[in-house]
Amino acid sequence: MEPFALPESFLLGTATASLQIEGGDRNNSWYRWVQTGHVKDGTSCIVADDHWNRVTEDIALMKQLHQQTYRMSLEWSRIEPARGQFDKDAIGHYRLEIQQLVNAGIRPLVTLHHFSNPLWLEDAGAWVNPDIVDLFERYTAYVVENLGDLVSDWCTINEPNVYLAAGYVMGGWPPSNISITKYFRGARNMIAAHIKSYRKIHQVRASNGYNDTMVGVANHLRLFDPKHGNGRERWAAGMYERLFQELFVTGMCEGRLLSPLGGGYPLGEGRYFDFLGVNYYTRDIVDCSGKSTSPLGRLEVREDSQKNDLGWELYPEGLYRVCKKYWDRYHTPIFITENGTADAKDAFRTRYIYDHLLQVSQLIGDGVDVQRYYHWSLMDNFEWIEGLSAKFGIVAVDYATLERTVRTSGWFYADVAKHHGVTEKMIQQYLA
Ligand code: BGC
Repeated sequence: MEPFALPESFLLGTATASLQIEGGDRNNSWYRWVQTGHVKDGTSCIVADDHWNRVTEDIALMKQLHQQTYRMSLEWSRIEPARGQFDKDAIGHYRLEIQQLVNAGIRPLVTLHHFSNPLWLEDAGAWVNPDIVDLFERYTAYVVENLGDLVSDWCTINEPNVYLAAGYVMGGWPPSNISITKYFRGARNMIAAHIKSYRKIHQVRASNGYNDTMVGVANHLRLFDPKHGNGRERWAAGMYERLFQELFVTGMCEGRLLSPLGGGYPLGEGRYFDFLGVNYYTRDIVDCSGKSTSPLGRLEVREDSQKNDLGWELYPEGLYRVCKKYWDRYHTPIFITENGTADAKDAFRTRYIYDHLLQVSQLIGDGVDVQRYYHWSLMDNFEWIEGLSAKFGIVAVDYATLERTVRTSGWFYADVAKHHGVTEKMIQQYLA
């Protein structure tokens, strides 16, 4: 293992999402989903980390961990609890939270939509109803008018592909309405919503005199590698990549609708991103051998690989590969908007952080403009249908007492942030 340094301007932080940590909100699609018994371990998001009431404590923790930036999301259901009615107290709460971050010297990156919907929207068909495009633009405008003086950096939508694939293809997430037509319709709506939101954020901030706005999408990017490398598997891998990723990246970055979404540039050709957000976790192996009847074969986890608590392969080189691929295409600043792992025993997270940041340092060495890294996650949280038992935090949360305890990997990550890299001494202390 070797020491490495990251540029002084490089920002290190953590990421969270409102539904996963805040608690206390019943007006959203995920709380309803929990009520209908869909969460594997039977836990709920109704308290989660009680972050809503512990903002000050949690920001103090970030400060103690030398965090320079923090990616958070806003709960739409709190801000617009009924269609067209905006809640001053809710936006006021987020304003205070963000003001505290700024005062602590922690730069906020704010996500407008991270998987959960207000119930009024869910009941109206959410992202498969074309009304969403204007509704999301109106919500964006309200938020940016109220927070835009404090926040320059925005993610419009978190992982549009995961949201739609889980809700409309695999079916484990709300609304669990399996329909490939709806998946594609949702993709078209999300692309349009992103573009209008992108323009709106710039427009509102510019009209208030700010010219430092940065807007992007947190794209879930993974790799699809053929198992045996034959032509059929390579074709299938390409199809997965296209249907799960390329439709979204190309649509949201350029405004172009690839087939089967249609074609052309319905909202105009453009460059609708100021950074490329990369959420990277793992890869899939595409196997078309044996009994598989689907032309796409099936997706597997590589057999001889090291895996996390959820069975995902640990594959740090993948971070290099996805960043390099999109850098070569777009030549745009890259923010790693999420990267992390489920490791309840904290047995391999320190090494995971080291390995992935080493890839980042190599990317930078090879001329790729990676500017930020957000570890997922600051603390254990409500991991969607896995519930509270999947542990992604560099800080452990005891759900009986809500006490936070920094894990060893958290102290390591704090040292990385403090030193902007990994020193020989840190290798001896944490990784030997
Ligand atoms: C999501 C997070 C999630 C994490 C780990 C990402 O897909 O944006 O909300 O907790 O992965 O599964």
